[in-house]
Amino acid sequence: MADEKPWKDVIEVTRLEKNWVTRVELGSRLIAIYDTPSGVFASLALCNHGGADLCDGYFDGHVIECPLHQGAFDVRDGHPVSAPATRPMKVFETRIENGMVQIRA
Ligand code: FES
Repeated sequence: MADEKPWKDVIEVTRLEKNWVTRVELGSRLIAIYDTPSGVFASLALCNHGGADLCDGYFDGHVIECPLHQGAFDVRDGHPVSAPATRPMKVFETRIENGMVQIRA
């Protein structure tokens, strides 16, 4: 589709924290990359509740728990799974290409 955003390299797959969250910078944005049993997912790193860095949170399976107020999100689609998080977090379409994690952003 003509209006799709381009794929951008963000990190080599081998540099990801296994089954954990890895922080990367993309321009001026901080992005959280999640390595999970069902693939790699990505979101904005800053929590949409109070701006804490989700990369400092606790990650288990497909759920990232914010380090500040313990709100939680499902990284597969961004939906909130635990209060005080109530709005979906911004997630990015993600793929692996030639050993690189790529996101549409
Ligand atoms: S800053 Fe993340 S739940 Fe409040």
